[in-house]
Amino acid sequence: MPARKPFVGGNWKMNLHTDDAVALAKSLADRFDATDKVDVVICPAFPYLAMVGKTLKDAGSGIKLGAQDAYFQADGAFTGEVSMAMLKDIGVDVVLTGHSERRHVINETDVLINAKTLAALEAGLEVILCIGEKIEQREAGQTHQINMAQLEYGLAGVTAEQMDRVTIAYEPVWAIGTGKTATPADAQEAHDRIRRCLKFGFEWGEAIGDKVRIQYGGSVKPGNAKELFGQADIDGGLIGGASLKADDFVAILEAAC
Ligand code: PGA
Repeated sequence: MPARKPFVGGNWKMNLHTDDAVALAKSLADRFDATDKVDVVICPAFPYLAMVGKTLKDAGSGIKLGAQDAYFQADGAFTGEVSMAMLKDIGVDVVLTGHSERRHVINETDVLINAKTLAALEAGLEVILCIGEKIEQREAGQTHQINMAQLEYGLAGVTAEQMDRVTIAYEPVWAIGTGKTATPADAQEAHDRIRRCLKFGFEWGEAIGDKVRIQYGGSVKPGNAKELFGQADIDGGLIGGASLKADDFVAILEAAC
Protein backbone atom coordinates (compact mmCIF):
# COMPACT_ATOMS: atom_id res chain seq x y z
CA MET A 1 0.00 0.00 0.00
CA PRO A 2 1.47 3.42 -0.90
CA ALA A 3 2.22 5.80 1.96
CA ARG A 4 -0.51 8.41 1.87
CA LYS A 5 0.32 11.76 3.40
CA PRO A 6 -2.49 12.67 5.82
CA PHE A 7 -4.75 15.54 4.79
CA VAL A 8 -6.79 17.50 7.34
CA GLY A 9 -9.34 20.16 6.45
CA GLY A 10 -11.00 22.78 8.61
CA ASN A 11 -14.51 23.51 7.37
CA TRP A 12 -15.51 26.75 9.06
CA LYS A 13 -19.01 26.64 7.52
CA MET A 14 -21.04 29.85 7.97
CA ASN A 15 -19.06 30.99 11.00
CA LEU A 16 -16.47 33.66 11.93
CA HIS A 17 -16.37 37.25 10.70
CA THR A 18 -13.37 39.39 9.71
CA ASP A 19 -11.49 39.69 13.00
CA ASP A 20 -12.08 36.12 14.17
CA ALA A 21 -11.33 34.60 10.77
CA VAL A 22 -8.04 36.46 10.39
CA ALA A 23 -7.04 35.81 14.02
CA LEU A 24 -7.72 32.08 13.67
CA ALA A 25 -5.78 31.82 10.40
CA LYS A 26 -2.87 33.72 11.94
CA SER A 27 -2.86 31.61 15.04
CA LEU A 28 -2.84 28.38 12.99
CA ALA A 29 -0.05 29.69 10.76
CA ASP A 30 2.03 30.65 13.80
CA ARG A 31 1.43 27.45 15.72
CA PHE A 32 1.53 24.78 13.05
CA ASP A 33 4.43 24.42 10.67
CA ALA A 34 4.48 20.68 10.03
CA THR A 35 2.87 20.87 6.59
CA ASP A 36 5.67 18.59 5.42
CA LYS A 37 4.01 15.84 7.51
CA VAL A 38 0.34 16.63 6.95
CA ASP A 39 -1.44 18.62 4.26
CA VAL A 40 -3.78 21.17 5.79
CA VAL A 41 -6.55 23.28 4.29
CA ILE A 42 -8.85 25.79 5.93
CA CYS A 43 -12.17 26.73 4.34
CA PRO A 44 -13.60 30.08 5.41
CA ALA A 45 -16.86 31.53 4.08
CA PHE A 46 -16.63 33.31 0.70
CA PRO A 47 -16.28 36.93 1.93
CA TYR A 48 -13.21 36.03 3.99
CA LEU A 49 -11.34 33.84 1.49
CA ALA A 50 -9.08 36.57 0.14
CA MET A 51 -8.14 37.99 3.52
CA VAL A 52 -7.56 34.59 5.09
CA GLY A 53 -5.44 33.70 2.05
CA LYS A 54 -3.40 36.86 2.50
CA THR A 55 -2.96 36.13 6.21
CA LEU A 56 -1.60 32.66 5.43
CA LYS A 57 0.67 34.00 2.69
CA ASP A 58 2.04 36.85 4.82
CA ALA A 59 2.81 34.36 7.58
CA GLY A 60 4.67 32.12 5.09
CA SER A 61 2.37 29.24 5.98
CA GLY A 62 2.02 26.05 3.95
CA ILE A 63 -1.65 25.80 4.97
CA LYS A 64 -3.85 25.75 1.88
CA LEU A 65 -6.91 27.87 1.21
CA GLY A 66 -10.20 26.11 0.51
CA ALA A 67 -13.69 27.16 -0.55
CA GLN A 68 -16.80 25.43 0.78
CA ASP A 69 -18.60 25.52 -2.56
CA ALA A 70 -18.52 27.05 -6.06
CA TYR A 71 -20.60 26.92 -9.23
CA PHE A 72 -19.78 24.80 -12.26
CA GLN A 73 -20.40 27.38 -14.99
CA ALA A 74 -17.39 29.42 -16.08
CA ASP A 75 -19.06 32.85 -16.12
CA GLY A 76 -22.26 34.61 -17.10
CA ALA A 77 -25.76 35.17 -15.84
CA PHE A 78 -25.75 33.12 -12.62
CA THR A 79 -26.71 35.64 -9.97
CA GLY A 80 -25.20 34.92 -6.59
CA GLU A 81 -22.83 32.21 -7.78
CA VAL A 82 -19.03 32.12 -7.76
CA SER A 83 -16.99 30.35 -10.44
CA MET A 84 -13.96 28.10 -10.07
CA ALA A 85 -11.86 30.60 -12.05
CA MET A 86 -12.81 33.36 -9.59
CA LEU A 87 -11.66 31.20 -6.71
CA LYS A 88 -8.39 30.39 -8.46
CA ASP A 89 -7.91 34.08 -9.16
CA ILE A 90 -7.93 34.91 -5.43
CA GLY A 91 -5.60 32.07 -4.49
CA VAL A 92 -7.96 29.22 -3.57
CA ASP A 93 -6.35 25.78 -3.85
CA VAL A 94 -9.13 23.39 -2.82
CA VAL A 95 -12.93 23.21 -3.22
CA LEU A 96 -15.37 21.07 -1.23
CA THR A 97 -18.11 19.39 -3.24
CA GLY A 98 -21.06 17.34 -2.04
CA HIS A 99 -20.92 18.38 1.60
CA SER A 100 -23.95 16.88 3.35
CA GLU A 101 -25.27 20.32 4.29
CA ARG A 102 -25.31 21.20 0.60
CA ARG A 103 -26.89 17.86 -0.30
CA HIS A 104 -29.54 17.84 2.41
CA VAL A 105 -30.11 21.48 3.39
CA ILE A 106 -29.53 23.21 0.05
CA ASN A 107 -30.83 20.16 -1.90
CA GLU A 108 -27.91 19.75 -4.31
CA THR A 109 -28.25 16.69 -6.52
CA ASP A 110 -25.61 14.16 -7.50
CA VAL A 111 -25.71 15.58 -11.02
CA LEU A 112 -24.89 19.09 -9.79
CA ILE A 113 -22.21 17.78 -7.44
CA ASN A 114 -20.60 15.92 -10.33
CA ALA A 115 -20.68 19.04 -12.52
CA LYS A 116 -19.00 21.04 -9.76
CA THR A 117 -16.37 18.35 -9.20
CA LEU A 118 -15.51 18.22 -12.91
CA ALA A 119 -15.43 22.03 -13.23
CA ALA A 120 -13.11 22.39 -10.23
CA LEU A 121 -10.72 19.78 -11.61
CA GLU A 122 -10.79 21.33 -15.06
CA ALA A 123 -9.91 24.69 -13.48
CA GLY A 124 -6.87 23.07 -11.87
CA LEU A 125 -8.22 23.07 -8.31
CA GLU A 126 -8.09 20.21 -5.82
CA VAL A 127 -11.41 18.72 -4.77
CA ILE A 128 -12.63 17.18 -1.55
CA LEU A 129 -15.74 15.20 -2.53
CA CYS A 130 -17.88 14.51 0.55
CA ILE A 131 -20.08 11.44 0.77
CA GLY A 132 -21.97 9.71 3.56
CA GLU A 133 -25.24 8.16 4.66
CA LYS A 134 -28.09 9.53 6.75
CA ILE A 135 -29.15 7.82 9.98
CA GLU A 136 -32.22 6.16 8.44
CA GLN A 137 -30.07 4.80 5.62
CA ARG A 138 -27.57 3.44 8.13
CA GLU A 139 -30.35 1.81 10.15
CA ALA A 140 -31.70 0.24 6.96
CA GLY A 141 -28.27 -1.28 6.27
CA GLN A 142 -27.69 0.95 3.23
CA THR A 143 -24.44 2.65 4.26
CA HIS A 144 -22.23 1.06 1.63
CA GLN A 145 -24.82 1.34 -1.13
CA ILE A 146 -25.22 5.07 -0.49
CA ASN A 147 -21.47 5.63 -0.36
CA MET A 148 -20.90 3.70 -3.60
CA ALA A 149 -23.67 5.58 -5.40
CA GLN A 150 -22.41 8.98 -4.25
CA LEU A 151 -18.87 8.01 -5.30
CA GLU A 152 -19.94 6.75 -8.70
CA TYR A 153 -22.09 9.78 -9.49
CA GLY A 154 -19.65 12.24 -7.95
CA LEU A 155 -16.60 10.96 -9.82
CA ALA A 156 -18.23 10.18 -13.18
CA GLY A 157 -16.00 11.49 -15.96
CA VAL A 158 -13.00 12.24 -13.74
CA THR A 159 -9.78 11.12 -15.46
CA ALA A 160 -7.01 9.03 -13.94
CA GLU A 161 -4.75 12.05 -14.11
CA GLN A 162 -7.25 14.27 -12.31
CA MET A 163 -7.60 11.72 -9.49
CA ASP A 164 -4.28 13.03 -8.15
CA ARG A 165 -6.18 16.11 -7.06
CA VAL A 166 -9.18 14.33 -5.54
CA THR A 167 -9.72 13.52 -1.87
CA ILE A 168 -12.82 11.74 -0.57
CA ALA A 169 -14.32 12.77 2.76
CA TYR A 170 -16.51 10.10 4.32
CA GLU A 171 -18.87 11.98 6.60
CA PRO A 172 -21.78 9.99 8.00
CA VAL A 173 -24.51 12.63 8.19
CA TRP A 174 -25.64 11.50 11.65
CA ALA A 175 -22.15 12.23 13.00
CA ILE A 176 -21.81 15.80 11.68
CA GLY A 177 -22.10 18.41 14.39
CA THR A 178 -23.90 15.98 16.69
CA GLY A 179 -21.07 14.92 18.99
CA LYS A 180 -21.65 11.32 17.80
CA THR A 181 -18.65 9.82 16.06
CA ALA A 182 -18.46 6.56 14.15
CA THR A 183 -16.31 4.14 16.12
CA PRO A 184 -12.84 3.82 14.59
CA ALA A 185 -13.74 0.25 13.56
CA ASP A 186 -17.01 1.32 11.88
CA ALA A 187 -15.29 4.21 10.15
CA GLN A 188 -12.48 1.93 8.97
CA GLU A 189 -15.00 -0.56 7.59
CA ALA A 190 -16.69 2.19 5.58
CA HIS A 191 -13.33 3.52 4.39
CA ASP A 192 -12.22 0.05 3.35
CA ARG A 193 -15.36 -0.33 1.22
CA ILE A 194 -14.82 3.12 -0.28
CA ARG A 195 -11.20 2.23 -1.03
CA ARG A 196 -12.27 -0.99 -2.75
CA CYS A 197 -14.76 0.92 -4.86
CA LEU A 198 -12.04 3.43 -5.83
CA LYS A 199 -9.69 0.56 -6.73
CA PHE A 200 -12.04 -1.75 -8.57
CA GLY A 201 -15.16 0.26 -9.44
CA PHE A 202 -13.61 2.69 -11.90
CA GLU A 203 -11.64 2.35 -15.09
CA TRP A 204 -8.54 4.06 -13.80
CA GLY A 205 -7.47 0.97 -11.88
CA GLU A 206 -6.17 -0.29 -8.61
CA ALA A 207 -2.97 1.75 -8.20
CA ILE A 208 -4.86 5.03 -8.43
CA GLY A 209 -7.55 3.88 -6.01
CA ASP A 210 -4.81 3.00 -3.54
CA LYS A 211 -3.34 6.49 -3.62
CA VAL A 212 -6.56 8.46 -3.04
CA ARG A 213 -6.78 9.98 0.41
CA ILE A 214 -9.99 9.30 2.32
CA GLN A 215 -10.73 11.70 5.16
CA TYR A 216 -13.16 10.92 7.97
CA GLY A 217 -15.51 13.69 9.08
CA GLY A 218 -18.15 13.91 11.79
CA SER A 219 -17.45 15.18 15.32
CA VAL A 220 -13.68 14.67 15.13
CA LYS A 221 -12.15 16.14 18.28
CA PRO A 222 -8.71 16.21 19.90
CA GLY A 223 -9.79 13.24 22.05
CA ASN A 224 -10.73 10.88 19.21
CA ALA A 225 -8.54 12.07 16.32
CA LYS A 226 -5.50 9.91 17.00
CA GLU A 227 -7.42 6.64 17.07
CA LEU A 228 -9.44 7.51 13.97
CA PHE A 229 -6.36 8.61 12.02
CA GLY A 230 -4.59 5.44 13.13
CA GLN A 231 -6.91 3.27 11.00
CA ALA A 232 -5.43 1.81 7.83
CA ASP A 233 -7.69 3.64 5.38
CA ILE A 234 -8.32 6.87 7.28
CA ASP A 235 -5.94 9.43 5.83
CA GLY A 236 -6.91 12.48 7.88
CA GLY A 237 -10.14 14.28 8.54
CA LEU A 238 -12.56 17.01 7.60
CA ILE A 239 -13.22 18.97 10.75
CA GLY A 240 -16.15 21.31 11.37
CA GLY A 241 -16.82 22.52 14.92
CA ALA A 242 -13.38 21.69 16.30
CA SER A 243 -11.68 23.63 13.50
CA LEU A 244 -13.08 26.89 14.87
CA LYS A 245 -10.77 26.80 17.90
CA ALA A 246 -7.04 27.04 17.31
CA ASP A 247 -6.18 24.82 20.30
CA ASP A 248 -8.48 22.02 19.17
CA PHE A 249 -7.56 22.18 15.50
CA VAL A 250 -3.82 22.25 16.24
CA ALA A 251 -4.25 19.22 18.54
CA ILE A 252 -6.08 17.41 15.73
CA LEU A 253 -3.33 18.33 13.24
CA GLU A 254 -0.73 17.02 15.65
CA ALA A 255 -2.68 13.77 15.95
CA ALA A 256 -2.31 13.37 12.18
CA CYS A 257 1.49 13.89 12.19
P1 PGA B 1 -18.21 18.46 12.57
O1 PGA B 1 -18.43 18.78 11.00
O2 PGA B 1 -16.75 18.20 12.78
O3 PGA B 1 -18.69 19.70 13.27
O4 PGA B 1 -19.04 17.26 12.87
C1 PGA B 1 -17.72 18.08 10.01
C2 PGA B 1 -18.09 18.59 8.64
O5 PGA B 1 -19.25 18.97 8.43
O6 PGA B 1 -17.25 18.65 7.73
